[in-house]
Amino acid sequence: MDNRSIGIFDSGVGGISVLNKLLKLLPHENYVYIGDTIRMPYGIRPIDDIKKHSKECIEFISRENLKAVVIACNTVSSCAIDNLRDSYDFPIIDVVRPGSRDAVTVTRNNKIALVATDATVHSGLYNKFIKKLNPDIEVQAVACSDLVLNIENGHAFDEVGKAVIKNYLDEFGDFDYDTLIFGCTHYPLARANFKKIFKEEEKDVFLVDPAHNTALELMDTLKEMNAFNDEENEGRVKFFTTSDPKRFEKLIHEHSILAKDKIKASRVYVDNIFDI
Ligand code: DGL
Repeated sequence: MDNRSIGIFDSGVGGISVLNKLLKLLPHENYVYIGDTIRMPYGIRPIDDIKKHSKECIEFISRENLKAVVIACNTVSSCAIDNLRDSYDFPIIDVVRPGSRDAVTVTRNNKIALVATDATVHSGLYNKFIKKLNPDIEVQAVACSDLVLNIENGHAFDEVGKAVIKNYLDEFGDFDYDTLIFGCTHYPLARANFKKIFKEEEKDVFLVDPAHNTALELMDTLKEMNAFNDEENEGRVKFFTTSDPKRFEKLIHEHSILAKDKIKASRVYVDNIFDI
């Protein structure tokens, strides 16, 4: 029995899509979530900033006695994961490998579309992993620069958000993909709008959320470590944000499967992070 916590990192609230999967699969574990909301979006930042900021956040939550960390953020998973893995003893799980494996398994026509941040698209990492698994698969990617902020600003479910998504999907032109990877944790929060657009366009597209396979990978890792928390009760979740905790709580409440009374965010000042 190991009741140490599992750390979850995202640049903002998007990692809630990953936390939700973890809560379903591993409900007895304790979690510590950090969203670096004051410095997001990460996806348009230079790689050195992405490395530095993500390291500071992991350093902060590493004080919480962690047994593993899930880097829910695709941007950090694509550009800064080696930097993190070299710095800590606990296992650090990314979302890009699990997401690539899932997409390769489900595509039938070997055409996969990727929507992600600029940094994730430019890293080419999804493409690399997918081609390694199956060189016959064609991957096309569209960087959706404005979609993260659009979702953080509360447009995950409305018509404003839908129009933004539609514009990005139009960029795929006549590429007849049968599988689309949500290459950013924020996008599954707007899944309903993606589905509406595909329905209106009479397209049958399988939506891959890398969170699903990531949760399974965490489960396998804990099994290998013999580190499950066997306590009877549901685990607890601690939330940290680098910006306004009330606003963060409101967004978590909109997207999380946790009961409202279990959502309480604390502010981490970026200055505190620098002090370490
Ligand atoms: N949610 C993050 C991801 O999965 C990035 C969003 C951002 O640009 O900060 O890539």
